[in-house]
Amino acid sequence: MRTRTLGTHGPSVSALGLGCMSMSALYGEADRAESLATIHAALEAGVTLLDTGDFYGMGHNELLINEALRTAPAARREQALTSVKFGALRTVEGGFTGYDGRPAAVKNFVAYSLQRLGTDHIDIYRIARLDPDVPIEETVGTIAELVKAGHVRHIGLSEVGAETIRRAAAVAPISDLQIEYSLISRGIEAEILPVCRELGIGVTAYGVLSRGLISGHWSPDRKLAANDFRGMSPRFTGDNLQHNLDLVETLRGIAAAKDLTVAQTAIAWVLSRGEDIVPLIGARSRERLAESLSAADVTLDHDDLAAIERAVPVDAAAGDRYPANQMAHLDSEK
Ligand SMILES: NC(=O)c1ccc[n+]([C@@H]2O[C@H](COP(=O)([O-])OP(=O)(O)OC[C@H]3O[C@@H](n4cnc5c(N)ncnc54)[C@H](OP(=O)(O)O)[C@@H]3O)[C@@H](O)[C@H]2O)c1
Repeated sequence: MRTRTLGTHGPSVSALGLGCMSMSALYGEADRAESLATIHAALEAGVTLLDTGDFYGMGHNELLINEALRTAPAARREQALTSVKFGALRTVEGGFTGYDGRPAAVKNFVAYSLQRLGTDHIDIYRIARLDPDVPIEETVGTIAELVKAGHVRHIGLSEVGAETIRRAAAVAPISDLQIEYSLISRGIEAEILPVCRELGIGVTAYGVLSRGLISGHWSPDRKLAANDFRGMSPRFTGDNLQHNLDLVETLRGIAAAKDLTVAQTAIAWVLSRGEDIVPLIGARSRERLAESLSAADVTLDHDDLAAIERAVPVDAAAGDRYPANQMAHLDSEK
């Protein structure tokens, strides 16, 4: 697996990272044994970046990664870098009630994460969403203290806009911004991506398959569990779904002509957008992982890229990328 460096200040990581979220609820139930096997297969294939959040399954995801790393061969365990999001406040029923970026809360969150991960440091640590009541300088300043203490190696950001990125970068070096970026979510191109490039900040892109919608495997008949985020996503519901799946069919023709799958084409497109971008693959089975990782070897030339962008023009998707109540938490959309 080729590597990419996360910004001027960040670590060198595999060109594709593994996002582990779907292994712990949010997209319905996952198979634990298959999740562990998927993490092992990713490490075996050369993936070094494992992304998680302490709120993914309320600690479940970090414990799963702990188990996967404990049961992996030593060399594979040592190559793994953890990227952890914190700050989300949750309810017993699984709801999200806000975000907490106060210094005391950051120190509390990290202590629990280190314990669950069974490690003495986290490689990249970031608040999942801006806490509107706490200046970003305080949250990032506290993570900078954790870096000094050796509990964290690098500071990341998640779903924040240009002004917040500048303010954060003025406090401490930032390795990467984690944000949604795909053929159908191109909002970062106007302002956020140029600011990251100006400041030497990398991008870890999530939702490169738009949570499965542009994977080429989605079907309108798919039954979703009550707790599956996609059942609430505007892009997966109502008339928007068929509109978006029609875009996928256009893309399928282009992919097939190159002997690629739709998912591989969508991932290769994100990879083609710059050496400073590392897509996070959200696979939770070895089969999906293998399909996605092959995208790392795909080269799209000028004509391919032009055809893809004709098939899926900017702003072609119908529906926002989050439901309205969650859009309100996105500093990146303000
Ligand atoms: N910072 C943030 O705000 C934020 C938000 C969301 C996610 N993330 C991170 O980004 C990671 C990736 O996000 P995501 O899961 O939404 O990404 P994604 O890659 O867009 O979607 C992953 C889903 O697509 C489906 N899929 C179909 N074919 C696939 C293939 N070949 N490879 C992989 N998945 C395929 C799978 O759903 P089925 O298994 O149901 O078929 C899978 O769970 C997460 O795990 C998390 O670590 C960060």
